[in-house]
Amino acid sequence: MTIHEIRTKYLKFFEERGHVVIPSASLLPENDPTTLFTGSGMQPMVPYLLGEAHPQGVRLADSQKCFRSQDIEEVGDNRHTTFFEMLGNWSLGDYFKEEQIPWMFEFLTQTIGLDPQNLYVTVFRGNAQISKDEEAVGIWKKVFSDVGIEALDVDFSERDGMQGGRIFYYDETKNWWSRSGTPDKMPVGEPGGPDSEMFWDFGMDLGIHERSEFKDLPCHVNCDCGRFLEIGNNVFMEYKKTEDGFERLPQKNVDFGGGLIRIAAALNGNPDIFAVDAFQTAKEALESLSSASYESSPEITRSMRVILDHVCAATFLIGDDVFPSNKDQGYFVRRLIRRAVRFGKKLGIDTAFVSEIGSLYIREYQKDYVHLKQKEDRILEELAREEEKFSKTLLKGEREFEKMFSQKGKISGEDAFILYSTYGFPIELSEEMAEEQGQHVDRTIFMEEFRKHQDLSRSGSTQKFAGGLADHSDATVKLHTATHMLHQALRTVLGEHVEQKGSNITSDRLRFDFSHAEKMTQEQIQAVEDLVNQQIEKDLLVHFEMLSLEQAKERGAIGLFEDKYSELGDQIKVYFIGDEATGGSYSKEVCGGPHVEHTGILGHFKISKEESASSGVRRIKAVLE
Ligand code: SER
Repeated sequence: MTIHEIRTKYLKFFEERGHVVIPSASLLPENDPTTLFTGSGMQPMVPYLLGEAHPQGVRLADSQKCFRSQDIEEVGDNRHTTFFEMLGNWSLGDYFKEEQIPWMFEFLTQTIGLDPQNLYVTVFRGNAQISKDEEAVGIWKKVFSDVGIEALDVDFSERDGMQGGRIFYYDETKNWWSRSGTPDKMPVGEPGGPDSEMFWDFGMDLGIHERSEFKDLPCHVNCDCGRFLEIGNNVFMEYKKTEDGFERLPQKNVDFGGGLIRIAAALNGNPDIFAVDAFQTAKEALESLSSASYESSPEITRSMRVILDHVCAATFLIGDDVFPSNKDQGYFVRRLIRRAVRFGKKLGIDTAFVSEIGSLYIREYQKDYVHLKQKEDRILEELAREEEKFSKTLLKGEREFEKMFSQKGKISGEDAFILYSTYGFPIELSEEMAEEQGQHVDRTIFMEEFRKHQDLSRSGSTQKFAGGLADHSDATVKLHTATHMLHQALRTVLGEHVEQKGSNITSDRLRFDFSHAEKMTQEQIQAVEDLVNQQIEKDLLVHFEMLSLEQAKERGAIGLFEDKYSELGDQIKVYFIGDEATGGSYSKEVCGGPHVEHTGILGHFKISKEESASSGVRRIKAVLE
């Protein structure tokens, strides 16, 4: 069955059960500052899960485009992609477990014909506040028993594995769902609830567990060997986080999400999700471009999977108007395309190929996503342009590599760093080219150089961006924290185009330059002052965390991002004003510090001057009284 057929059958199934089928929302979340991308089907539903009335009613279904940037590095195995479609159905205070579980079972086993013998489920074990989900267990037992399967429920234990069970109890790390994860990580006001996940067993015959690195441990549904694949999750979303625990939402919701290509993989009986029909024409094109078959070696399979996923994701992202750049969401599109080009090189492809693969995806998906066809020219142009830009970088780097190599007969860690810092030439490519010459690049030396350079540029950036602090006196540090809040308040009042262009702080005043074309009105100045003073009065805690670039971006930090460091997974310092765990941070900014520990000590914030700094840049001077 093709993914088109599965998607159509799913939507029809729920339409017949009173659901309105709604179109997929954009990959760029609307009015949701908590995240950069739509990463699950429920994200656009949050206001309605919390009780707002949805214009289309209380039963909804869709197939939602999703992108998970945090999975970029995971891609390459047989079950991860950054882009995927999530089938979803929602009850907004209407039906609950009694309907959802039998419907899901019917859809999977009858409508699309998965063998119930290969289905396993998990349920919430309960914790101090919320009880064990015996209700869901009872319903699962009944649906299995209706098809002649006696479903035993067992408490999952790592040591004992399956224990002959079909229904497994897990704790909140596995069977609780909220956008922020486990109950303790949820900010106040966030909805969540216990869930019941469904797994497909590819069976013992394929020997998946036995051939994996986990072979010495007992296998189980959540085992990382890949024998079991999670194909869907029924979230029973009836709770909301409060200051000291949970309260019931005004309504009991169902939030179901199922991975479309994963369901197709289960139907194929092939644990490799890249064997699903949507990837086939692109895969064949890659095989012919590289004159290698997908299966020829684990390395080739992995490289092809990375390209297959990344180009598909980039195609859909550009289709939602996210263009390659160094900033915000655009950065991820750039990264996807560049990684695809690099993996293309590994496959020995030496012509431009990214837009060709993109066009195959457009052809594949245009029936269900008309906008891709409408925007085809622009999408292909962006893919080709980014590939060309990066190819030029690579070419320059290669030439320099060869020059250095012919002079010295080798490439040291320092040389590799020069190639990297001057030409943007990735370390992996220096390593590969050296290996072709029977040589080896010392990565330890490379990393040392990298760190040295980073320390230097950090102190530089601290000066430039933490505002050229005149000193670290109390008054200066207070104004520094006020500068972060001012930055955020300007973005709130004037818009997200506001970016720091310069900062200079003495113990008497702060001076902050930012991108904004017009003079601020008196009302805008007042609104910014009020916002900052409100945050001061809240006495918010200030803390920093060391995060990877990826994490910092995911969490919505603003400020300086040095994207050429990103590939190395290095850590940057991000200051948070206000704790995310208790009501959200007011400001999150990449910065070297120092800052005050809590905002209450700042006093009263006052803007003393607003003037032009240069074309398109305004300057604010402000004091703490
Ligand atoms: N919210 C759940 C998930 O993303 C089900 O839709 O898995």
